[in-house]
Amino acid sequence: MHRLSILCLSVAVLLTINNVAVSQPLDPVESARMEVEAALNLTPDVDNGRKVYMVCTVCHSPEGWGRPDGRYPQIAGQLPNVTIKQLADIRARNRDNPTMRPFTSPQLLGGAKEIADVAAYIAQLPMNPNNSVGPGLDLEFGAKVYKENCEDCHGKNGEGNQAEHTPRIQGQHVSYLKRQFHWIRIGKRRNADQKMVKQIHRFTPREENAVLDYVSRLKPPAEHLAAPGWQNPDFPKYYRGSGY
Ligand code: HEC
Ligand code: HEC
Repeated sequence: MHRLSILCLSVAVLLTINNVAVSQPLDPVESARMEVEAALNLTPDVDNGRKVYMVCTVCHSPEGWGRPDGRYPQIAGQLPNVTIKQLADIRARNRDNPTMRPFTSPQLLGGAKEIADVAAYIAQLPMNPNNSVGPGLDLEFGAKVYKENCEDCHGKNGEGNQAEHTPRIQGQHVSYLKRQFHWIRIGKRRNADQKMVKQIHRFTPREENAVLDYVSRLKPPAEHLAAPGWQNPDFPKYYRGSGY
């Protein structure tokens, strides 16, 4: 009788501990940080990354070049650490992306290994040579604003910084740049860099438009650019519809 009640008690305690673990998941920032760390410690397998990328082609297309209207960003050529952080943040709900989030579930995307692999695959995709740009009316001012406010972090030519997971922003579609910039500024993009938020919070519309037009025109180096009209041979069966 005595033994039985001890047993019951231990089962009850175990159940409670288990329950606590289940009902209190890690907070988004912490779980994303752990996943980034795990992915960064792996040696990526580009060939497996190509297989993982299959599900991404649905929206990002085989080339990863994004759409001129900015609905989908160019992700081709992005620095691996940046892609890893964005994927971890999106799936942990540390960056809102309701369209894409279901595709980042462990069932569809996998774990840290698949994240590292797909990031390496995306990094080696040649970039869009014809991204959409702004009207080009205030570029001298845009260059000045860039030099004074962005260059230190995003690099002289918008090439980004792998160690600091600062995105490559050169050659990105201008409408996407505008949306992200605005979301970072108003705090809608929760994973934003707080120093960047401070840097831009007093920007006038003229500064914002000029600098993003300038950024969209920063050309990635020739070795990262595809020939116009290039199609990714890794996905020969991808259905491009009649518009392509
Ligand atoms: C259902 C459509 C859809 C699918 C499938 C999808 N994405 Fe996305 N993805 C989006 C949209 C939309 C955005 C831009 C969201 C925004 O504006 O913040 C995005 C943004 C991203 C970004 C952030 C880019 C940046 O510059 O910050 C990365 C990285 C990314 N996707 C990678 C992937 C990968 C890898 C896969 C496959 C595992 C994938 N996506 C599957 C729709 C999708
Ligand atoms: C203190 C460093 C810093 C400064 C200054 C800074 N940024 Fe950023 N920026 C970042 C980091 C880091 C991120 C990525 C944050 C994250 O998601 O982890 C980012 C993200 C972005 C993004 C989103 C890119 C994407 O692919 O989603 C844009 C656009 C951007 N910055 C443009 C600018 C511009 C233009 C300026 C100057 C007016 C600027 N930034 C100044 C560090 C900086």
